[in-house]
Amino acid sequence: MCGIVGYIGKRPAQDFLLEGLKRLEYRGYDSAGIALLDNGKIKTVKALGKVAELQLKMERSTSSAMAGIAHTRWATHGKPSEKNAHPHIDCKGDVAVVHNGIIENYRELKEALGKRGHAFRSETDTEVIAHLLEEEMSAQGRSASGGKIREVDFEKAFVAMLKQLKGAYGIVAMATKNPEIMLAARLSSPLVLGIGQEEMFIASDASALVGDVKRIVYLDDNEIAVIGKEGYVVKTLSSRKREKEELPLEWNKTVAEHSGYAHFMLKEIFEQPKSFADALRGRLIPGEGKARLGGLRTVEKRLRSINRIVIVSCGTSYHSALVGEYMLEEYAGIKAEVEMASEFRYRKPLLDKKTAVIAISQSGETADTLAAIREAKEKGALVLGIVNVVGSTIARETDAGVYCHAGPEISVASTKAFTSQLAILALLSLYLGRQRGLTLVMGKRIAKELLQIPKYMERVLTQAKAIKKLAKKYAKQAHYLYLGRKYNYPNALEGALKIKEIAYVPAQGYPTGEMKHGPIALIDASVVSVMIMPKDSVYEKNVSGMEEILARGGKILAIATDGDAMLAKKADVIFIPKTLEMLTPLLAVIPLQLFAYYVAVERGYDIDKPRNLAKSVTVE
Ligand code: M6R
Repeated sequence: MCGIVGYIGKRPAQDFLLEGLKRLEYRGYDSAGIALLDNGKIKTVKALGKVAELQLKMERSTSSAMAGIAHTRWATHGKPSEKNAHPHIDCKGDVAVVHNGIIENYRELKEALGKRGHAFRSETDTEVIAHLLEEEMSAQGRSASGGKIREVDFEKAFVAMLKQLKGAYGIVAMATKNPEIMLAARLSSPLVLGIGQEEMFIASDASALVGDVKRIVYLDDNEIAVIGKEGYVVKTLSSRKREKEELPLEWNKTVAEHSGYAHFMLKEIFEQPKSFADALRGRLIPGEGKARLGGLRTVEKRLRSINRIVIVSCGTSYHSALVGEYMLEEYAGIKAEVEMASEFRYRKPLLDKKTAVIAISQSGETADTLAAIREAKEKGALVLGIVNVVGSTIARETDAGVYCHAGPEISVASTKAFTSQLAILALLSLYLGRQRGLTLVMGKRIAKELLQIPKYMERVLTQAKAIKKLAKKYAKQAHYLYLGRKYNYPNALEGALKIKEIAYVPAQGYPTGEMKHGPIALIDASVVSVMIMPKDSVYEKNVSGMEEILARGGKILAIATDGDAMLAKKADVIFIPKTLEMLTPLLAVIPLQLFAYYVAVERGYDIDKPRNLAKSVTVE
């Protein structure tokens, strides 16, 4: 996904801009560019490919400009190329803009601007923003009063330009005529201000600001920010000033470093015992078999009257939601349903005051999930969030919620966010369950077992070498099936998603019981079935499914409970410790993550930058 950074202050802007772009590299992009404003002139430098290419070009002509904007682009309109890379400038080179999102009416705007004499250099939707700004600024300059040319009001021109746009945007602009400020605006595409000492920063993602600022401010939809060296003002489009909450940026620099791991994905897989423990911290009362969820305090009463839960999410967060559906029904005794947010937004969902809609999202910025909760709010449902990024849009727009506290997840392929989401869903089941019929004895068992999970995860991780060997053995497979039942059916979907995303191997996840309804036709000696079959209530059913596959010559790689000697005789096996059935996905997913990772390594792919993918999907 595209990334934005901007700086205005007391030191050469290009140092932060390049560093900020590097911190956003994980989001995925195809080209990058910088615009610097110095001595009344805008200078742009662009490069196809990595930020390192841009840095090389910059080194040839370092600049002492103290204001600048920069961008990593992920092509939507127009192929990846230098000319399509941002920042884009107007005809005269007096304004420069960077933009995330999509301008839906750009064709009409471009045609009209063309007729009025504007010359376009790129195929992007973004370039219309620069030309519209040019037009609005010169309209102001021309409107002479008493023969005097009026001073151009950049802010007024910016607002007039915004009013012509339809679609989604996070925009940052600067102009030679007003070098002391930068302007930013947001509609459905995140922007965050970073507050420094005599310097201000802006970015599309707080991770770009780590190490440079300690306080941040998130912009909301339909807000603009005027930022200068001395500070910032946030306003509505009708120029009303908005008081904004300044939040601490608590991440430290190591989150954006590999810390000795070959890739962020591997680092984050290994972080799971800690991130899981962090998700539980202070939230369990083991002696009472209860969970304490401070983020839900304000809606506690209303939650008691809820009789239905609908969870909306996408991708990996959708898979954790599916596990949550089993947990909530079994232990909280509440009817639960899971909807892909991208579908939910186009249905006519039946929601009422007794329904709680829960959005699960790592980034808290996923456009589909955001649209789904807006729809749910409209319909009067209680809207809750299970979100990782503190202060993100979904976190702000929900009525209440619980943070995952997984720390920043840099890898495009989500891993630790999944297990942290499961931690919160287990806590929520305990919390709601104990409000309803869940017994003290069962509550205590769940709480006790949750506290054991980090230790069990460590044990699974010690098998990384063995999993690497298996990945080597199976790396050339053309197709994988992932099979599981009940709590581990969502894990089958998640395992298949992981290997598709980073190793680019076609893979399908199915409930084991569904095999005989069609997919078993795929089985022959060339197909590997990854079967998740811990000793749980559906173990025997899984064994029957495995026998059917073996009988047709298929190969099995099984995730099994420690000591399952029978399976070890029939298949390649990765073992996980015995735990409560509802918690098995937390352990079984780790071998699936590692297997996908090592297969991708074997195949020689760039794991932290999977092709065609972006970390945070802020457009529809
Ligand atoms: O930030 P979110 O959790 O809302 O993101 C949802 C999906 O886009 C995300 O999980 C995606 O599927 C990942 N690439 C999975 O690894």
